[in-house]
Order: sequence, then C-alpha cells, then structure tokens
Amino acid sequence: MRAISCTLIAAACGTATGVSLAARQGGAGNATIQCAAIPSPFPTWQQLPQQSTLPDPFLPLKYTTPSDAQNIMAGKGQGRVQTPDEWYQCRQPEILQMLQEYQYGYYPDHSQEKVEATRSGTTLNIAVTAGDKTGSFKASFTLPSGASASKPAPVVINIGGMQNQPYLSAGIAIAQFDYTSVAPDSNSKTGAFWSIYNGRDIGVLTAWAWGFHRVLDAINMTVPEIDATRVGVTGCSRLGKGALAAGLFDKRITLTMPMSSGVQGMGPYRYYTMSGQGENLENSKQGAPWWTDSTLGTFVNHAENLPYDAHTIAAAIAPRALVIDQGTGDQFTNSKATAVIIYPAAKLVYDWLGVGDQIAMSVRSGGHCDMSGYTSVLPYVQKIFFGTPTNKDYNSLGSYGSPITTAYPWATATPPSKAA
Ligand SMILES: *[C@@H]1O[C@H](CO)[C@@H](O)[C@H](O)[C@H]1NC(C)=O
Ligand SMILES: *[C@@H]1O[C@H](CO)[C@@H](O)[C@H](O)[C@H]1NC(C)=O
Repeated sequence: MRAISCTLIAAACGTATGVSLAARQGGAGNATIQCAAIPSPFPTWQQLPQQSTLPDPFLPLKYTTPSDAQNIMAGKGQGRVQTPDEWYQCRQPEILQMLQEYQYGYYPDHSQEKVEATRSGTTLNIAVTAGDKTGSFKASFTLPSGASASKPAPVVINIGGMQNQPYLSAGIAIAQFDYTSVAPDSNSKTGAFWSIYNGRDIGVLTAWAWGFHRVLDAINMTVPEIDATRVGVTGCSRLGKGALAAGLFDKRITLTMPMSSGVQGMGPYRYYTMSGQGENLENSKQGAPWWTDSTLGTFVNHAENLPYDAHTIAAAIAPRALVIDQGTGDQFTNSKATAVIIYPAAKLVYDWLGVGDQIAMSVRSGGHCDMSGYTSVLPYVQKIFFGTPTNKDYNSLGSYGSPITTAYPWATATPPSKAA
C-alpha cells in the first residue's frame, strides 16, 4: 500500500500547490470545514459503483459506494461538496491523490530534490539530484523580440514540437525539451527521470510532467527574460496527455494546453464509441501500459468502475486555465466526446467555482495533431497571458453542436450554494 502523506505528493501538497493536509482537515484557519476522510487503502474496482455516465465530481470518494449507483450517477449521493471552499480544501486535494493512486502513480517529493541549472546561449543544462542519484537533461528556448529582464515574456513549454512562429510574433517565448531524455515512450526506464526513480510504480506521463516542471525550475533560475509566473504547457497526442499531467500537478502552470490528447488526456474512458473507433482503457493499457501506473491496469474491462473520468481531471485544474484542442477529423481520440461531454461537464465545475472563463474548448477542422490547433488556441493564450480580448467563442462546440447532458445527470443537482 502506498503512503498518502503529503511528503510523497509534494506537487499536490507542497509550496507548488499550496494546499496542506492540515488545511484539508480544517486545521489551517477555517474550523468550519470538515473534509470527508480519504479512504485508505483506496477502494478496488469491486468496491466502487459501476457508473455508465460520468461520475459526479462533487462526491467524495468515501461516499462513492456500490450500493447506490443510480442515485450517485444522478447527483443524489450523500456527502457531496457544498461550497467552493470545500472544493478547494477537500475535494480538489482528494482528486489529486486519487488520480495518482489510480492512474498516474505518485509524483516524486520535490522537496527532496536539488535542481541545478546552467545556461549556455539558448540551451539549459538541468541536473536533478535526490538522495545519491542524479538525472540530467537539456532544454532549449527561443525568446520573442523585445524580451528582456525588465520586460520578461510569458512562455509555452512544449514537448514534441509546436507551431512556434505565431507565438513568438505574439510576444510569447517557446521552450522545449526532448521528452525521451527524461523518459522514453517505452518500458525502458532510461532517461533523467528513471535515473532517479527507477523501481517506482509511476507512469511515463508523470515522468514527462516532472520534466516540464524541472524545465520551469531551470528557466526561473537562469532566464530572467522569461516570466516564470506566466507559463503554458503543451504537447500533442500522448504528449498532450503528458502536458495535461504537467498542468495538473504543478500550480505554477498558468495555462494547460492538451492537443488531440485522447484517453488519459481529455478523452473519456466512458463513451469511447462516440467517434466510431475510440481509444479506450483497454487498448491504451495494452498498447502503452507504461503511460500510467499498474493500478490502472486492474480496471481493464471495468472502466465504468473508475470513480473519475477526464472531466474530473480537467476540473481539478481549476481555477487555473485550461484550453482543450480537438480536430473534427481526429476520430481515434474521440474529439466528439471531448467536446460534447467532457468539456461541458468540466465547465460546470469551473462555472460553479466562479471561474468559467478559465476553461476553453477549441474545436477545429483537421486531423490528429494538425499544427493548426496551435493557431486555433492562440487568441485564448493571449487572453490568459496578456488580457487581450478575443471575439472567438471558446464555448462553441463547432460542428458538434450542443452538449449531451444525459452524460452527466448530476448536473441537475449541482450543489445549491454555487457562487451566485
Ligand atoms: C471559512 O469557511 C466559510 C464558510 O465556507 C467561508 O465563508 C470563509 O470565507 C472561510 N474562511 C477562510 C479563511 O477560508
Ligand atoms: C523562482 O525562484 C524563486 C527563488 O527560489 C522562488 O521564490 C519562486 O517561487 C520561483 N518561481 C517559480 C515560478 O518557480
């Protein structure tokens, strides 16, 4: 059994994210909030209800019991989170732990790491030491014209390449690293991350997320021309799943930009047939089991027993910004379900928290990882980084039309004390 103490999930509990376990229990300044205890050990798939619709994001795991699946799906479970304070102090930290348990593996304790970085031209040499182990890798960056220490530019950190020029022209710096030097897309356990953490049951998506975070550390230490408080993370397909994890596990990330990300990204485990040839838990766990931890494998053929879905991951990023790219020609990643189910279900939580403008859906034409996705989201990126207004409607589902509300029946029972 994995420990669930805060020291093991620094990104969820430490300075990067700012929510301590004490705060969860109502000990840090607000005695009125009592969090439901996080189950320990976490329930197995047999101990969870089978839910054919998207799980209620407001229901703590403690109350997600198999006896009452119909009411739970309908948002009539007992013990639902009632206020935004409760969400931020109780439920969001629970979701972060739950996702590490069931999907990502436990993020390493960053407080036990020493990060050293040197800058040589536009190359960053990064070395991370924990205990007696060190992992090293490189990153590089490009500054927009006019960026200086007194006028630092925001940055988008990407893996796998992106459309740089429109971003540079908009005054946004670009940084990148070779993800294979952090963790290859395989079981090989080489690269900087595994040099330190080999032997742990952690998915490669989490290793890539860690790579993004250590690049941000290095930028903050050595590149004063970049503003380390305005940071986007992006990647496409499997690398979009990694960018999503990067946004999830570090509150320093201002804007999370998963492109064509599919299952374990912004594609649902449920409703995978909606696009006609869906990626799902079974085929993703078979094709690339290393993306996630081994616990997720125990849900194969029982995906409807997962107590979360992609909307839960998105909601856990609030109040920070999230823009979701999908192309209508990309069936495999189930663009349609991301647009008509996952986005609106997550937006309900963002709206309820009073930060509805912080989530955006970008439905474009074109296929998987079409580079036009980057120009499609750019006005939203400019809005987040610079406050530049845009006329583009990022609540539009394009040719997909309207949300399919039957996929999240709990919405009709959204907690009463929503930000009015
Ligand atoms: C404590 O909780 C109450 C009720 O939810 C809320 O109004 C108040 O702002 C909270 N105070 C702090 C310091 O979190
Ligand atoms: C940058 O480094 C300073 C000094 O260590 C630290 O206080 C700050 O939180 C860091 N900022 C980011 C965005 O990492």
